[in-house]
Amino acid sequence: MLNEQQISSAVEKFTALLREQSARSDEISAQGGFTDYAGLEKLVIGVCGGDGIGPTITAVSAKVLESMLAPEIAAGKVEIRNIDGLTIENRIACMKPIPDDVMAQLKACHVILKGPTTTPQAGDGRPNLESANVAMRKALDLFANVRPVKIPEEGIDWTFFRENTEGAYAVGSKGLNADDDLAVDFVVTTTEGTRRIARLAYDYARRNGKSRVSIISKANVIKTTDGKFLRLCREIGEDYPEITTDEWYIDILTAKLVDPARRKDFQVVVLPNLYGDIVTDEAAQLQGGVGTAGSANIGKKYAMFEAIHGSAPRMVEEGRAQYADPCSMLRATAMLLDHVGFTDRAKKLDAALDACTAPGARMKITGRPDGCTCAEFADYVIETLGE
Ligand code: IPM
Ligand code: MG
Repeated sequence: MLNEQQISSAVEKFTALLREQSARSDEISAQGGFTDYAGLEKLVIGVCGGDGIGPTITAVSAKVLESMLAPEIAAGKVEIRNIDGLTIENRIACMKPIPDDVMAQLKACHVILKGPTTTPQAGDGRPNLESANVAMRKALDLFANVRPVKIPEEGIDWTFFRENTEGAYAVGSKGLNADDDLAVDFVVTTTEGTRRIARLAYDYARRNGKSRVSIISKANVIKTTDGKFLRLCREIGEDYPEITTDEWYIDILTAKLVDPARRKDFQVVVLPNLYGDIVTDEAAQLQGGVGTAGSANIGKKYAMFEAIHGSAPRMVEEGRAQYADPCSMLRATAMLLDHVGFTDRAKKLDAALDACTAPGARMKITGRPDGCTCAEFADYVIETLGE
């Protein structure tokens, strides 16, 4: 049984969390509109390599971006700015998920292309630092994680809108061990935090002629936070009468995504953070692997684009980093182009990637020396773009 002192120490921690989350909720409510990229004098794109295979796949993505935006770069309308220092070594040295100088540089950009970063795991001997991804999503308030998955031959065209700053992630590194026997984590849902992701998903559906939005939760068990998420998304859906809303629990959604008879019916899916994390890996795997899917982290002021996979330290240990597949980062690059208004060029890059990964393409990236290198593949993409 916990003693009085342990209980009051737990209550104190919980009080601090409540204050912090309540302040965050107020900040969301006070936020303005989305950045108008067309109105900027110069668009600054920050590029951070990250860890493991990150620098390899990010460097070639920056090269593709530079080649596609050459006229704007020459005209001083776009700047691609390299940001060093978002490495696990630096993060451990300063004991922060994002070193202060890196954070300042990130905040001086409008959008960011970011390579995967290594996250210390509880018990791996490294300090228990929060994931750099999660920290960046929170610091820049990147509330929507947009992850498209397409399998054209099966008629599958899914877009997942994963809530990106709340749920199990909001205070994921701040759970408490009340004593040696009892550990407690917290899940957070706010009203505006939910409404804004729901609106983004429905707006996307409306703009893109989608007829259906699926709201995902586990509200039958996680009644308070998931119940709120479901109720608020449903309410937002009422503003979009032309769109059919349906509701699924996360477990059955996971099953339906592997049901060939039903899965093509899903179009736009809006879901809490942790479920979105899990299900988007499943969906990416169905498309051909996590190496094939890009990810956009959208906020009102900033946006960050990344691969959906991790830093693959094993590839580096085995000396295979130069064979890393950049497709996920290149898909993220296309999403970046689309987000800042270069929609035609985004489509062109996606089409080039489709061509370069089609069966019978001249080069094949396998992650191993039997395939081409990351740099060779990127040159192949650039060449295809020029055709
Ligand atoms: C993702 C990743 C991250 C997450 C990790 C690296 C913290 O899995 O972007 O999906 O859990 O969100
Ligand atoms: Mg994930």
